[in-house]
Amino acid sequence: MAFFSWDTKYSVNVPDLDKEHKILLEMLNELHDAMKQGKGKENIERLVNNSASYAKSHLSHEERLMEQCGYPGFQEHKKQHEFFVQKVNEFKNDVNQNNYKLSSELLKFLKDWFVNHITMVDSKYSTSINNCKVK
Ligand SMILES: [Fe+2]
Repeated sequence: MAFFSWDTKYSVNVPDLDKEHKILLEMLNELHDAMKQGKGKENIERLVNNSASYAKSHLSHEERLMEQCGYPGFQEHKKQHEFFVQKVNEFKNDVNQNNYKLSSELLKFLKDWFVNHITMVDSKYSTSINNCKVK
């Protein structure tokens, strides 16, 4: 069974953003499997670096849409992204500095953040973004 499976309750009703969320979820699964199978440092490092940069570009995409669409919760939402990016950077540094045997607690943190963020924070921008012509 996959570590993390997509569920329709995770949909934010913006197809492009759902697609990106699904890719992130797959990346997290890949990371989980690589760790479980005891894949080497290079492999884990590559997966962590790739997912961190994909996550950052996804968050910027969301921020761009929220800002362009005049979403009222933009600033608050952006703060949550900043917190997450900081966590991801710490995580990336740990891995790059040879502490590459990531703990299951850390993966759990990423998964929980992702689920909570999508269902409680991202879901609020759906109407603003879908009503907006900028897309
Ligand atoms: Fe978000």
